[in-house]
Amino acid sequence: MPRFLRKQERVMSEVTIRSYAPDDCRPLNEVFRESVRRTGLRHYSLEQVLAWAPDEIDSVRFGLRRADRQTWVAEIGGKAVGFSDLEPDGHIDMLYVHPDFQHRGLASALLRVVESAAGERGLTRLYTESSICARAIFERFGFRVLAAQTVAIGGQILANLRMEKLIDPPVLSPASNH
Ligand SMILES: CC(C)(COP(=O)(O)OP(=O)(O)OC[C@H]1O[C@@H](n2cnc3c(N)ncnc32)[C@H](O)[C@@H]1OP(=O)(O)O)[C@@H](O)C(=O)NCCC(=O)NCCS
Repeated sequence: MPRFLRKQERVMSEVTIRSYAPDDCRPLNEVFRESVRRTGLRHYSLEQVLAWAPDEIDSVRFGLRRADRQTWVAEIGGKAVGFSDLEPDGHIDMLYVHPDFQHRGLASALLRVVESAAGERGLTRLYTESSICARAIFERFGFRVLAAQTVAIGGQILANLRMEKLIDPPVLSPASNH
């Protein structure tokens, strides 16, 4: 077996994907800040990433937004290192993995959970505004780019991509029609 596969299996076996809990607010705030500032710098300027993830993130508002929609946390060794979410209409607002834990399949694992939850809810469409950094992973999951756009954040203009994935509606067995 190739070495990288053994490594991937070992890493993935340590990962737990679970629902958000209020205690996750602070660590996820840190995951958000670090991933934007360190990974975001590959595609955005310093001014842009500091506007996207400023020093002072309103932790109350951040926590409320994690709790008011279904949010999943990727945990390794009891440490929250990534998260994603799903709003009732199929919108994915967040997909962030701490830079120290990237390229191990965590975002992919989170997206699989998000898509499975969407299917269970009978949603037929997932959509997001992907950063340039996340475009490849969304495309690998079957999302397509609808439009490139810019958004104003903290006085900076940032480019992102409106993307969507259509999901097959669940197949109902004859018994479930009665
Ligand atoms: C985008 C982001 C969430 C991806 O997180 P991630 O956990 O590194 O994602 P994955 O590991 O599932 O996939 C990333 C890459 O690692 C590769 N990979 C996955 N498992 C791997 C392993 N065990 N070994 C080596 N590479 C691996 C994947 O093939 C993928 O390659 P690609 O990007 O060239 O397609 C992360 O980079 C991030 O937080 N970025 C900054 C914040 C951001 O822009 N978020 C999106 C806002 S919409």
